[in-house]
Amino acid sequence: MTSSVTEALSSGLSGYTGEGIYLYADGQQYIDCASGTFNLSLGYSAKPVVDALHAQLDRCSHLSSDFTREKSRQIFDKMREFLPAHIGAFWFRDITGSGANEGAIRIAQKATGKTDIFSLFLSHHGQTVGSTGVSGNAFRHRSFTLPFANSVKIPAPDCANCFYSQQPGRCGMLCATRLEDFVEYASSGQVAALLVEPVLGNGGNIVPPAGYFRTLRETCDRLGILIIADEVQTGFGRTGSFFASTGFARELRPDVITFAKGAGGIGVPVAGVLMRSELDVLDPWEHSSTSGANPLSLVALEETVRYLRDHRVLENVETVSGPLRQGLTDLARRFPGMSNVRGVGLMLAFDLPTSLDVQSFITTAREHGLIVRGSRYGFGRTVKIRPPLIITPDEVRELLVRLCDALRAYHREGAYDREGQP
Ligand SMILES: Cc1ncc(COP(=O)(O)O)c(C=O)c1O
Repeated sequence: MTSSVTEALSSGLSGYTGEGIYLYADGQQYIDCASGTFNLSLGYSAKPVVDALHAQLDRCSHLSSDFTREKSRQIFDKMREFLPAHIGAFWFRDITGSGANEGAIRIAQKATGKTDIFSLFLSHHGQTVGSTGVSGNAFRHRSFTLPFANSVKIPAPDCANCFYSQQPGRCGMLCATRLEDFVEYASSGQVAALLVEPVLGNGGNIVPPAGYFRTLRETCDRLGILIIADEVQTGFGRTGSFFASTGFARELRPDVITFAKGAGGIGVPVAGVLMRSELDVLDPWEHSSTSGANPLSLVALEETVRYLRDHRVLENVETVSGPLRQGLTDLARRFPGMSNVRGVGLMLAFDLPTSLDVQSFITTAREHGLIVRGSRYGFGRTVKIRPPLIITPDEVRELLVRLCDALRAYHREGAYDREGQP
């Protein structure tokens, strides 16, 4: 081997290798229950995606979007079988969820001529100035002046901590019906859109109650407010349907859908906006960037859509989700500090008593071969279980064995003392 080849092989992150749901890091093997950064929908190594990327790299790694427009159109046509009939246009010029959400905001503002954006308490829509500005968590704002003057946050459908102190089922769904008050007293009166995650991911895997999406849609229709579904986490099969808003959240009927993360299959950055045809109002110079619609991202997107269809990945999510959820529920019966198992598809979670418990449990889980993540960047008390969508039933069993071992070890270490639990 020549020295330059040896040097290239040993450079970079050579201590890390991924295969399927497993990450090998510095000699250890982990089941990645966080799917990377919730973006490895197809795991680390889906071969058709890897092969297509190699082939594209051999041809060229970059093209200006002038040359990739037709490819974007072809990919959108391939996606259409998974989309609601009312979605007729696309904007594939982003590589991050933050960018896609800002694109969607621009679309809503330009199409309606209105300014304000509603979003939810506990929401996370990105890390750029604009997308953080519309996100509903103070810890992301604290150190900055984020110039998004027209952002209005409204209570989230978080029944466990109801803003209106109501009981689920007898609440009149105030979090979805009382938007008039926010239009009247908290906004400029010119509300373009409501931006909403079908499951509040970073906020704590919060699944809205039955009827929420229908009520929200009715309210927004009454008030003339567009709905943007932020499907950056929930899209591309995570909840068992192509989008959450084509499955359990279909009554939301969003006017605009944003996606990123899992869309690149094996972690290739790609993002986009889907919308009603009449909302296709942007000119190219109004929302694009150097890497938008680059060929590697588009190849990854195209192959991910193909893989999801050809390998029946959505069906796999349906198959493994039940046993994984049941396994978590069984563990919660054995370990009293673990509670509130919840989620949809492979977007599952449970709570520990405090955020400190979550932080130390993440370390214990790592020692038992599991990568898990918490919520709200360490401020939340939720542990998320979101393995790649290609996980097999045998691998689900292995995951549960490792999780049980980790919980047992965590109890032995005197866990939950702070709450007086075992
Ligand atoms: C729901 C949601 N929207 C948007 C984003 C921002 O995506 P990105 O980090 O790719 O900019 C995230 C990232 O975690 C997210 O979870």
